[in-house]
Amino acid sequence: MVVTTTVSDSDEHLHCTFASRYARTSLPRFKMPEGSMPKEAAYQIVNDELMLDGNPRLNLASFVTTWMEPECDKLIMDSINKNYVDMDEYPVTTELQNRCVNMIAHLFHVPVGDDETAIGVGTVGSSEAIMLAGLAFKRKWQAKRKAQGKPYDKPNIVTGANVQVCWEKFARYFEVELKEVKLKEGYYVMDPVKAVEMVDENTICVAAILGSTLTGEYEDVKHLNELLTEKNKTTGWDTPIHVDAASGGFIAPFLFPELEWDFRLPLVKSINVSGHKYGLVYAGVGWVIWRSKDDLPEELVFHINYLGSDQPTFTLNFSKGSSQIIAQYYQFIRLGFEGYKSIMENCMENAKLLREEIAKTGKFEIVSKDVGVPLVAFALKDGSRYTVFQISESLRRFGWVVPAYTMPPDAEHIAVLRVVIREDFSHSLAERLVSNIQKVLKELDELPPRLSTKAAHVTDVTDETQKGNADQPHPKKSAMETQKEIFNYWRRISDMKTSGVC
Ligand SMILES: Cc1ncc(COP(=O)(O)O)c(C=O)c1O
Repeated sequence: MVVTTTVSDSDEHLHCTFASRYARTSLPRFKMPEGSMPKEAAYQIVNDELMLDGNPRLNLASFVTTWMEPECDKLIMDSINKNYVDMDEYPVTTELQNRCVNMIAHLFHVPVGDDETAIGVGTVGSSEAIMLAGLAFKRKWQAKRKAQGKPYDKPNIVTGANVQVCWEKFARYFEVELKEVKLKEGYYVMDPVKAVEMVDENTICVAAILGSTLTGEYEDVKHLNELLTEKNKTTGWDTPIHVDAASGGFIAPFLFPELEWDFRLPLVKSINVSGHKYGLVYAGVGWVIWRSKDDLPEELVFHINYLGSDQPTFTLNFSKGSSQIIAQYYQFIRLGFEGYKSIMENCMENAKLLREEIAKTGKFEIVSKDVGVPLVAFALKDGSRYTVFQISESLRRFGWVVPAYTMPPDAEHIAVLRVVIREDFSHSLAERLVSNIQKVLKELDELPPRLSTKAAHVTDVTDETQKGNADQPHPKKSAMETQKEIFNYWRRISDMKTSGVC
């Protein structure tokens, strides 16, 4: 029997084969291809390229959630086609967001009754939340200055030099001067005394961090509140506080309930937290909560009604997915206070294990604190043979992504490694990481001292004056000078990495 196939039959046959048949030449990078391709082929090609991405579960650089329960994954997929902004069409989703705002606000001791609605909004992450909070402070300050007949064109914000890049973005995008309190060796958070000294009549707020990105340490918001209250009293200003609780906001309430950092302190007018960090939801959700309606200028709230009803919105964007909001509500009711507490305790235990084992190697000084975000930040005690950047690179071989970075001014000479402990980083993974760190240290220790070999390389790269001067004998450098060059070389490399710590 002769079987004849039509062109489309054989096409169909091809469609089911390995997609590389469609990808013999380079994949489209600049222009959309003329023709279509079968869905299986497109899937295979994209999926194959993505195989070269790192494994999110081994990405110890990030605070952002990389595992959720399958039931929640299902809810996320079920709502993947819902645009959050269509509130009239999806009123239940809007209601879930409001419930989340209320729950978080109460967790942060907002001064409203148990069944009263709090003021806040779901955002794409803490960055958007910070932009909104910052804008609210700027507008309030400007309105007050205008009413007083005073200039209102030079607003500033006081922070520690350890702030996350989103504060720099806020300052640049919304034209607010960022006045940073410098750090120093051994003290890597904002000093409240210095911060309050920097406050002037143009300061729209002081931003404190609950869980510094660099070391996980909590800044002393209570002390800041006391000092600022004093200053406000003597100057007649009413400079407020914002707390960037991106990471710590879902840790401190469960593990350190006595720590006063939130709306219990009268000058704290707004707080942001990342739902996608220790709120335990995949990337794409953050929250900002205001102390009261008075702290959010009405002019920032837009009322949109062309989709069928009045929709108040106060976000920077318009459309966005609904899944993360729904997932956040799932986590709140699924875990409850008890569940969050237990997960955070477990993270802390794993951080403790890791900290102790890293300390036992004798090679590192631990710079993170016991009270803080569950992470371990550690610096080499002796950087003369190799650097933290080399350790970071060597750990990649095992699949681990452990970032190395230098501290901000004035502690730039300190370089650290940081391991963030998330819910899905288990005890046994912690043990495996320790064993891999030990292996890397052993290998690096066995290498010939790098001063000679690495120094030559570094000198080549860094010493422009010697280029093209190969016949001239190089002036002999002291070990200290060479060491400084090596350090600068690695720092330049790390500075060039834009993905750094988040
Ligand atoms: C203290 C702090 N603030 C803000 C952010 C930005 O958060 P998001 O990634 O949720 O926008 C981060 C991110 O790590 C952070 O650590």
